[in-house]
Amino acid sequence: MKILLIASGGDAPGMNKFIAQMQKKFGNSLYACKGGFKALYDNEIYPIRLFDVQPNRNSAGCCIKSGRFAEFKQRKYFNKALENAKRFDYVVVMGGNGSKKGVKELSDNGVKAIFVPATIDNDVEKTDYSIGFHTAVAMVCFAVRNVMPSMDAHNRGCVFEVMGRHCPAIAQNAAKILQADVLVENKEQLKIDEIAQKIKKNRKKEHSSIIIIRENIVNAEDLTQQLNQIIGEKAVMHFVVGHLQRGGRPTSVELKMAKQFAHAAIKAIKNQQSGVAVAFENGKTVLQNI
Ligand code: F6P
Repeated sequence: MKILLIASGGDAPGMNKFIAQMQKKFGNSLYACKGGFKALYDNEIYPIRLFDVQPNRNSAGCCIKSGRFAEFKQRKYFNKALENAKRFDYVVVMGGNGSKKGVKELSDNGVKAIFVPATIDNDVEKTDYSIGFHTAVAMVCFAVRNVMPSMDAHNRGCVFEVMGRHCPAIAQNAAKILQADVLVENKEQLKIDEIAQKIKKNRKKEHSSIIIIRENIVNAEDLTQQLNQIIGEKAVMHFVVGHLQRGGRPTSVELKMAKQFAHAAIKAIKNQQSGVAVAFENGKTVLQNI
């Protein structure tokens, strides 16, 4: 049996654990595309032993390389990728909603394919969890907890811009855990005067302020400048948490989830299921039809 592994979209902490579990189970039967669906199209496919899997099993990143390939939706690109996929008994794809659609297309065209949710954004349909999310939230908490003591010494506010593309899950969770003073999840919640008043009020009490804002709403630097114009110079600073969230060492919860997801994918292969997605539902890892 020949199994092909693909990581599509942004990398997510925990992907390496998933890959390592798959290697442990399938050994030399396992192959990987070096860099997402683009590599499937280019036939950049290698045996898993040529990748640095085991030394990286508990680290972030993606040892088989991940990648975005918007062209995959176009027939001519898809058809060539499909030809290459058909040389394998199984194709397992880690990624987000776009990758899930890709898995459905492959499956509808005769490839035995399995989807595994893996994106820090936790915005994959029909699953409560996707690999990477727990670590992303933990890294936001790490950043905030390591910046705020310095802000506190000057009663400053700090705007933390966090990833999530258009999904507020990371921002919401981190804000809740950290008891942020302000959370901005969408454009409607961006009320600059209200944020300024909150920071001013806290300054009067000799307190700092945590402002968490989801990316793609407003530029954090511009917002900080506007707040400083209202409150006063250097009353507010900003910190773009950015790729610290993706590069952060996977938490123990993450490693456990990635392992569970790998067991589910292995089970699907054993049962010869195709067109299925691994998902986390009501606290359980399950397999769903796509
Ligand atoms: O989808 C994961 C994600 O990290 C988003 O949160 C973010 O908007 C995007 O990827 C960043 O992508 P890139 O690393 O290609 O800039």
